[in-house]
Amino acid sequence: MSVKRVLITGANRGIGLEFARQFLERGDSVFAGCRVPGDANELWGLSSRFPGRLSVVTLDVADENCIAAARADVGETMDTLDLLVNNAGTFATGEHGLARIDSAKMAHVFAVNAIGPALVAKHFVDLVKRGTDPLIANLTSGVGLLTNRIGSPGGQYSYAASKSALNLVIRSLSFDLQPEGISVIGIGPGYVRTDMTRGGSATLLPDESVRGMIATFDRITLADTGRFFSWQNREDDWMTSA
Ligand SMILES: NC(=O)c1ccc[n+]([C@@H]2O[C@H](COP(=O)([O-])OP(=O)(O)OC[C@H]3O[C@@H](n4cnc5c(N)ncnc54)[C@H](OP(=O)(O)O)[C@@H]3O)[C@@H](O)[C@H]2O)c1
Repeated sequence: MSVKRVLITGANRGIGLEFARQFLERGDSVFAGCRVPGDANELWGLSSRFPGRLSVVTLDVADENCIAAARADVGETMDTLDLLVNNAGTFATGEHGLARIDSAKMAHVFAVNAIGPALVAKHFVDLVKRGTDPLIANLTSGVGLLTNRIGSPGGQYSYAASKSALNLVIRSLSFDLQPEGISVIGIGPGYVRTDMTRGGSATLLPDESVRGMIATFDRITLADTGRFFSWQNREDDWMTSA
């Protein structure tokens, strides 16, 4: 397998950090996007372990100016990306049920989870277009399924609705970018133990989930564009099943 040039958003902790670690361990070049590089201690640790193959990039996916600056930053050292992993995600703290919906928090969750991946694709598509078997992979969730009953009643309106919107973004991107030879997929990481699931019952560790997702990325071809997969390296029908 050839060495890949990879950009990961939200790479300073959780699943994104694990993506960075595993891609680096197998020899790939990684651009690790994070909001505050000065606080990304674990990324800097990886940078020392893998000299010359990890670039830490300031990237707030809720800020289009920041995304444009990150594109310019990456373009200074690389004119090609083979893989863009839209991993950054958030949820509205304390939002459990209708009475707790807060418009500003909800708008922010949409900005990060649904609009962010579209804007990152918009700004980086010219680099991805030049990649080898180029792929845009988006971390989504079964809670974005229209027939979802997970977490209801009292569920996370913002998170679930934003992932549902993301799933439509993924479908739109797949149609738009197929003529460019770029595959676009959604992938569910499973219920993974990270800061996002703190206090929950997640037992799946980032290591295992990410290993499965990378194995899935490696076998994607353009024929798979617009489809949804699970971390367990299989096509998932949760998007379309009732
Ligand atoms: N964990 C699960 O069970 C699970 C299940 C289904 C889907 N997912 C999805 O998997 C992805 C990763 O989740 P995780 O569990 O690793 O979550 P996490 O531990 O909470 O990490 C989230 C990451 O996203 C970053 N982020 C948040 N807002 C951002 C912004 N505006 N710009 C750039 N980065 C931002 C965070 O950076 P900061 O440190 O700066 O906040 C952090 O690096 C998310 O898209 C999530 O929805 C997770």
